[in-house]
Amino acid sequence: MDKTLNFAHRGFSGEYPENTMIAFLKACDNGCDGIETDVQFTKDHVAVLCHDETLNRTTTGTGYIKDYTFKELYNLDAGIKFNNKFKNEKIPTLEQLLQLSKDKGIMLNLELKNTEIPYDGLEEHVINLVYKYNMQNKVILSSFNHYSMIKVKNIDSSIKTGLLYEADLYEPQEYCLKVGADCVHPQYFSVLKEDIVKKLKKNNLSINTYTVNNEDHMKRLISLNIDIIITNHPNILNKLLSKI
Ligand code: G3P
Ligand code: MG
Repeated sequence: MDKTLNFAHRGFSGEYPENTMIAFLKACDNGCDGIETDVQFTKDHVAVLCHDETLNRTTTGTGYIKDYTFKELYNLDAGIKFNNKFKNEKIPTLEQLLQLSKDKGIMLNLELKNTEIPYDGLEEHVINLVYKYNMQNKVILSSFNHYSMIKVKNIDSSIKTGLLYEADLYEPQEYCLKVGADCVHPQYFSVLKEDIVKKLKKNNLSINTYTVNNEDHMKRLISLNIDIIITNHPNILNKLLSKI
């Protein structure tokens, strides 16, 4: 049985500004196996990493990312709102993270944020970048937009896809096989149940769950042999996994 892997949610977002290069670097320093991040598309079709469709919460900008060119976004600060000491952190590009991941030998879970905004062409663009950095065997694309994951498989059936969901699905293994995905990406409480885990595993579906920040939940999910745990605290999960 493979060991549970440790993925840092938006980088080491428990202690560093989410989805910034410092958060990604610190996740690597703290023993993550991979990084989960959120992909948006600028007006001039640059894939950038930010959880929200809008700039207001995490940066010094306002409005939708889709309405700005990458050059315009580069003037914004993505660290200062988290803490003054992270002033001058920029919104990273997907290419920056692909390069870092390649250098560090880690995996990536790229969540396409295309539910509110369809971002025409995002799937193809991301897949091309993944190949540019030769990361096709180390990347899982996921989305709450399951039509998008079908699109990914139609473009390239060898790219791994994961279906994100928040609530309990009825017979998730059947749904997942119907969509043609490789992994489920459920919120963790829907896979704290042994019978659901068994059914998914029996169908060779990987279980990659978010966002697990409580140690007891981490322990329970490790004991259920969940494939990937996505956490804001890769340092804590790393300690638990090192003890096994
Ligand atoms: O990909 C797992 C998790 O990040 C999904 O939710 O809102 O944190 O992007 P959210
Ligand atoms: Mg996400």
